Amino acid sequence: MKKILITGKNGQLGRECADLLAKRFNVVALSSKELDITNPDSVIIVFESNRPDIVLNCAAFTNVDMCETRKELAWEVNGKGPGNLARAAKKIGAKIIHISTDYVFDGEKSVPHGYVETDKTSPVSWYGKSKLAGEQAVIETTRDHLIVRTAWLYSIYGGNFLKTMLRLALKNPEKEIRVVNDQFGSMTWGYRLALQIEKLIDKEVQGICHASAEGYGTWYEVAGHFLERMGIESGFTPCTTEEYSVPAHRPRNSILENKKIKQESICVMEEWKKDIELFADKFRDQLIRETAGV
Ligand SMILES: NC(=O)c1ccc[n+]([C@@H]2O[C@H](COP(=O)([O-])OP(=O)(O)OC[C@H]3O[C@@H](n4cnc5c(N)ncnc54)[C@H](OP(=O)(O)O)[C@@H]3O)[C@@H](O)[C@H]2O)c1
Repeated sequence: MKKILITGKNGQLGRECADLLAKRFNVVALSSKELDITNPDSVIIVFESNRPDIVLNCAAFTNVDMCETRKELAWEVNGKGPGNLARAAKKIGAKIIHISTDYVFDGEKSVPHGYVETDKTSPVSWYGKSKLAGEQAVIETTRDHLIVRTAWLYSIYGGNFLKTMLRLALKNPEKEIRVVNDQFGSMTWGYRLALQIEKLIDKEVQGICHASAEGYGTWYEVAGHFLERMGIESGFTPCTTEEYSVPAHRPRNSILENKKIKQESICVMEEWKKDIELFADKFRDQLIRETAGV
């Protein structure tokens, strides 16, 4: 049975992957306390004692706005951390699967055309720049790698956009809440992505691949669809990027085309609306309890 070491086990994707992959593989999942990916010495010690066949890097500094103010930390975790993992993986003969992001692109491509794996990268935020540096560190270190770019993640675990929208709608039903309606992307369920990663492991795919939900929508459309399925009234108002001021620039077009996994005939990604419906139906009570702080 293959052994898989997962970093960032308390994150959205780390937990989805640990839950799913443990059914078929020998999984060692480690939190940031158990393995800090910015510490190369710890990384090699942990890899040598566990000797995994595959390292799955789900650890990252994912707060896009905070990356603008904590640039050094973002660079250590997102830019250098993957290189530390890749070097240690190479040393013990393991493959590295590294998770990256749509934010490596500038979003200037015309909607609805999605970015394919070979499109030119040109990040517009520090988060995107640091994640691109992480990709490059992996690629330069070992040939035995797979980089999986995904977008707009949500899960029952951790914090995410859907949970924030639910909290805002439940706590301030009368308040007008503005949601950006001119950035386009594909809201992707972490559980679905974990299923895709399992397929990628089985097929031993190498290189760079895109894996996000099918179809696209704006943040405003996503929030509306989710709350409607949850059966909750919302006072959301669409606004433009300019009207919603945040520290980090974001790509206007975040749509990823899942070209490579389709070519490999292993695409299990679903339409974003369908997955949000499944998610809302499955976790409705838990989401409401969690949001209400019960
Ligand atoms: N979230 C999105 O919308 C999105 C979109 C596109 C791509 N991605 C990518 O998808 C991957 C998974 O994202 P996610 O949403 O699951 O992230 P997440 O929920 O924020 O989890 C990231 C995890 O990384 C851990 N971590 C942070 N610094 C670390 C360090 N120095 N050493 C070890 N672990 C560390 C965090 O641990 P602590 O909690 O202890 O800090 C956290 O558990 C990331 O590569 C991210 O860049 C995410």
